[in-house]
This record gives sequence, structure tokens and C-alpha cells, in this order.
Amino acid sequence: MTRSYRIAPSILSANFARLGDEVTAVVAAGADMIHFDVMDNHYVPNLTIGPMVCEAIRPLTEAAIDVHLMVEPVDRIVPDFAKAGANIISFHPEASAHVDRTIGLIHDSGCKAGLVFNPATPLSWLDHVLDKLDLVLIMSVNPGFGGQSFIPGALLKLAEVRRRIDALRLQTGRDILLQVDGGVKTGNIAEIARAGADTFVAGSAIFGSKDYAGTIGAMRAALKSVD
Ligand code: DX5
Ligand code: ZN
Repeated sequence: MTRSYRIAPSILSANFARLGDEVTAVVAAGADMIHFDVMDNHYVPNLTIGPMVCEAIRPLTEAAIDVHLMVEPVDRIVPDFAKAGANIISFHPEASAHVDRTIGLIHDSGCKAGLVFNPATPLSWLDHVLDKLDLVLIMSVNPGFGGQSFIPGALLKLAEVRRRIDALRLQTGRDILLQVDGGVKTGNIAEIARAGADTFVAGSAIFGSKDYAGTIGAMRAALKSVD
């Protein structure tokens, strides 16, 4: 099957002093969505941006804002991000006392819901909720920082989730995005796509490059070799 691929630059690696311009530039360079990393210095050892920043960048683009919550607890902040214009809200199951309820809360707030798997988090969290999700995110680094190296074990995990998503699509016609986050570069994106990912978060690879369009273009060229 020919798959369509999405590139989601993570603004964690953008220049925060010029964040609005960075968002505009990366969308003009061909980004499909903006990956928005939210860290709380509690669930992960770093502190980043919240709903006010989401609200500030919302008018700058029609691209989806893909909020990756690395916060605990999850539920209190979900409606704030929905009001701030988020399109997708993803969370880590370990950070929510009631995973199914949080998925429902995200949907009731008008957003798509994603579940995120750290390198050591088992996929059994998907057993009873996959059919309610819009996105599964496999972390290929431990969350908290940009610029880390891709953990190869993520490839096997992606392949297993791809099997589950494809089986569900055959049964129900429902499709779910399979996103990967951490250490994605032009040099490994094709291999990661072959394992089953269709949505690629890339922070340092894009914002650390001089030519955003050139880097996103190189990623798309590498993805062309996959099907
Ligand atoms: C890590 C974040 C990632 C990060 C990826 O906790 O979730 O989105 O920005 O950065 P790179 O692409 O540099 O690994
Ligand atoms: Zn992320």
C-alpha cells in the first residue's frame, strides 16, 4: 500500500526568541504539522511551553498543532490546550490515572487523541483502547530533550504497532497515524518508514539546519524510496 507521509517539525529546537517567525518559516518550508512539546519538570526533567504559547502561534498557521504532553497529571491541562487551538493532543499512559477517560476527555474537547510510548513502555497499553485513538506515538528517545540519538529498538515496536493498526483498519476501516519522535534525521527516515511509521517528528534535524525547505525536501526524497 502506498502510504502518505507527514513531517512534523518539533518547535522544541526552534529559536524561542523568534518563535512566530520559526513557525511561519517551517510551514512555508513544507511542514505538515507543528509538533508542540510540553514538559513540566515533573513527568520529565525539563520545562517548556504551555497553552499560552499554543494560543499565540495558532493564528500564524493552518497546519495542525500536534501537542505532545509530557506532563503529570494530564487531564487538568487538556481543555486549556483545546481552547488554545490544539488539533491533536497526545499523552503518556503512565501520567494518567485513567487512560480511557483521558482519551474521552480529549475527544470531548474537540481534539484528536494520541497515546505515547516511551522506550520501556509496553504496547499492552494499546490492548483495550487502540480503536479509540487517532494517533500512536512511539518514542525513539527518552522524553525530555531534543538532539538525542535514535534508539534502534523503536523499529521493532513500530512494526508491531503497524501490524495492530493495519489489522484494525481491515476490520473497521478506521485508520490511525503512527508517529515516531526522537533522533529522526534525513539519514534514517527511510528505514523508520519501512518499519511502519507514517508521521515523523524532527526537531534538531530541521531547526538545526540552515535550510528548512532543503531538509524537509531531503526527508521527502528519502521517503520516496520506501514504497
Ligand atoms: C523529546 C521530544 C521530541 C524532541 C525531538 O522529548 O518529545 O519531540 O523535540 O527532538 P529531536 O528530533 O532533536 O530528537
Ligand atoms: Zn515530542
